[in-house]
Amino acid sequence: MRGRIANGLLVQMPGNKHADPEQSRMYSESYKEKELSAMQEWFKEAKLGIFIHYGIYAVDGVAESWSFYNGKMKYEDYMKQLDGFTASSFDAEKWADLIAKSGARYAVLTTKHHDGVALWDTEYSDLNVVKKTPAKRDLIKEYAEAITGRGIRLGMYYSLIDWSHADYPSVFEGGNAPEDLNQANPYSSPADGVQDEAKWQKFLQFNNDQLREILTNYGKVDLLWFDGDWERSAKQWNLPEFKQYLQSFNPDIIINSRLQGYGDYKTPEQGIPITRPEGPWEFCTTINGSWGYVPDDNNYKSLNQMIRMFCDCITLGGNMLLDIGPKEDGTIDKRQEDILLGLGEWIRAHEEAVFGTEEGIMTRYYLGGSTIAKDRKTLYLFVYDDPKENVCLKGLCNKVEKITVLHSGKELTHVVHGGVPWFNIPGTTWIHLTADDTHKQVTVLKLELDGELEMYGGSGAVVTHN
Ligand code: GLC
Repeated sequence: MRGRIANGLLVQMPGNKHADPEQSRMYSESYKEKELSAMQEWFKEAKLGIFIHYGIYAVDGVAESWSFYNGKMKYEDYMKQLDGFTASSFDAEKWADLIAKSGARYAVLTTKHHDGVALWDTEYSDLNVVKKTPAKRDLIKEYAEAITGRGIRLGMYYSLIDWSHADYPSVFEGGNAPEDLNQANPYSSPADGVQDEAKWQKFLQFNNDQLREILTNYGKVDLLWFDGDWERSAKQWNLPEFKQYLQSFNPDIIINSRLQGYGDYKTPEQGIPITRPEGPWEFCTTINGSWGYVPDDNNYKSLNQMIRMFCDCITLGGNMLLDIGPKEDGTIDKRQEDILLGLGEWIRAHEEAVFGTEEGIMTRYYLGGSTIAKDRKTLYLFVYDDPKENVCLKGLCNKVEKITVLHSGKELTHVVHGGVPWFNIPGTTWIHLTADDTHKQVTVLKLELDGELEMYGGSGAVVTHN
């Protein structure tokens, strides 16, 4: 008896003694997710976004905001970088061009990091690059126009935390002062232990005002990327009212999950998830080890590693938000630019395996990544290494009608060995592929099936009749 298919698994129907509760759970979760997230459609289809950490921290090439918060440098020295922030070669059109070439469908720029320095001409604080730096330009305006002009979805990062604002260190997380006040960082909590709720309310109003500027002065913002929610509780952030306030400017705005559980999608950071996060998700990562421009951080990932990480995300049904850290003048390090261009080149050669596809089959069937076309009749296998003679696919119930190497169009032969067809236990599909036909980065094999994908998830059986 055949069952329903979930995440590439043949789910045995109830009543069958082989029924696997884990498989049934996966089926119902993917179903639930589809219903929940109709408004996330563009986001789930986007697959790649470009994250941009641009700020005064690029002047000295130090870690964004954290360098003074963690005591690596004095606050005054950190803020001296304001004088060196020129944005002299900042060209938003060039950024947008690079982002389009990378294959990304959305961009997210730090409008204000935890240091409180706004990249736009905010009415609510003089701590902005228009008033306090030689740049004297509203960088958000130029960014928004260029990004929107290319049809790229517009994302704004906004730090809920503001370690420069006098009203910010007014309360402790959840209202609970630590026993040892020395543990409280003076940039985030009252050093004397005395909480001031009125100040905190003023700060919330300040965030609301700045966010209103961001959401109303630059055209339609598609995505808000919050950061720093961990320093206060949901109640202190005034949730869920705060979310409703944001949605009042644009009902279909997408908000990341760094909002004490009130966001729309998960944002695992730097470490790739091994288990698929529940619901829509996005993995954010740096190219070297730094979010902003840190010239002596030479710990760059290679293009091959970046492409594989991207494949890891899409084969688990997620997006990748890949970060660049422009220099203070607005130009981008060649090593970062090359990664974006290389990724874009690979994506263009493999477009149909990337866009319009969903999470693939489990690695117990195929030892690599995979995606499935929406109609579930085409399976794309990602081949990371050069095979000796075959690529091996187990548990496939379908007949394979055609196999092609996606980037070259070359057709491949295959054989199926073993299996017990009269018990619905499929054999192993061996696809003939050698190093001669692989792509220099990641190879994709396109398998056209005779119908909707069906995978066998059982543990085999004794053949009692032949
Ligand atoms: C972390 C850091 C921050 C960085 C962000 C990007 O939360 O606080 O510096 O901007 O990750 O995901």
